Amino acid sequence: MSEMVKTIAVLPGDGIGPEVVEQAVQVLNAVARRHGVTVLFEEGLVGGIAYDETGHPLPPETLALCRHADAILFGAVGGPKWDRIEPPTMRPELGALLPLRKELSLYANLRPARLYPALADASPLKNALLGEGLDILVVRELTGGIYFGTPKERTEDGHRAIDTCIYFSEEIERIARVGFEAALRRQRRICSVDKANVMETSRLWRDIVTHVAADYPQVELTHMLVDNCAMQLIRNPRQFDVIVTENMFGDILSDEAAMLTGSLGMLPSASLGNGSRGLYEPVHGSAPDIAGKDIANPLAAILSAAMLLRYSLDMEEAALDVERAVEHAIEAGYRTADIAGPGDTPIGTREMGERVIERLR
Ligand code: IPM
Ligand code: MG
Repeated sequence: MSEMVKTIAVLPGDGIGPEVVEQAVQVLNAVARRHGVTVLFEEGLVGGIAYDETGHPLPPETLALCRHADAILFGAVGGPKWDRIEPPTMRPELGALLPLRKELSLYANLRPARLYPALADASPLKNALLGEGLDILVVRELTGGIYFGTPKERTEDGHRAIDTCIYFSEEIERIARVGFEAALRRQRRICSVDKANVMETSRLWRDIVTHVAADYPQVELTHMLVDNCAMQLIRNPRQFDVIVTENMFGDILSDEAAMLTGSLGMLPSASLGNGSRGLYEPVHGSAPDIAGKDIANPLAAILSAAMLLRYSLDMEEAALDVERAVEHAIEAGYRTADIAGPGDTPIGTREMGERVIERLR
């Protein structure tokens, strides 16, 4: 049997990005070998560090590297050092992360928020609201809406600013399909979130999602206004299976859903387009205050690596192995500082990585 070789672009970025990505790379190495696949890692500069070293937060070589890779493993970008770069389009967020999503047409952002029973006490919600646990998938549209619409500018006198929210039917239709397909593989319930009482884009959104639903009679569709959804997530989070929503609402609701599970440090994400190439990124940011101290939680990055195995390398068994290893490490009581309870002795970033690797099948 000829051995399979896959190329992964590794973009560690800023803050805790490099430390958590290092652990994810080790996990990928270990699990791929066990499944007979060779992975080649090619590192690229992105974010503030790329700006410092090359003058641009997304150097052309990095973009080229991402285009030829099978998948992209991304750490985090940004930090106080780069918050005041002018123009703002040269800052890590606007100059690297958003263009990367757009250039690679990664329009579907999957953000699973899953509560590990052993971490129920870390959730800010009363345990009575958590029942058997939480398992919500936020499907966020990632390359349209107010993030990218133009005009997007300030007037000369500085007293008028404008952002533009635009959606095309095709953009809504393709993300709706991603949501319905995901729901088919889960509890077959999808909640489409919009602001149709105010926004024209939301009324189009609702029409298109309703239209797509006709192709998925097995899936139960509900519509919810975004303000109500923000409230319902806290009041009764177990009512949700898949939430599909536009770019900015998805940004906000995914942080909220993530926090319900106890720690942003646990949440992975996948950003996908039409092909198999995807970008995988922990939902937490660069956390500059704890960078370089070996205390960051690498599990979000490691779980992002599991999503990479599943969606870009078609290695479902390997993905499950990683997810089980993480679960077992948690069940065995290992905790980084962010998820440690009163009686726990926190372990560091590297040790958490090792605890996961030793639990791989
Ligand atoms: C996210 C982040 C980004 C976003 C920022 C850093 C631009 O909050 O991935 O959720 O708003 O999309
Ligand atoms: Mg966000």
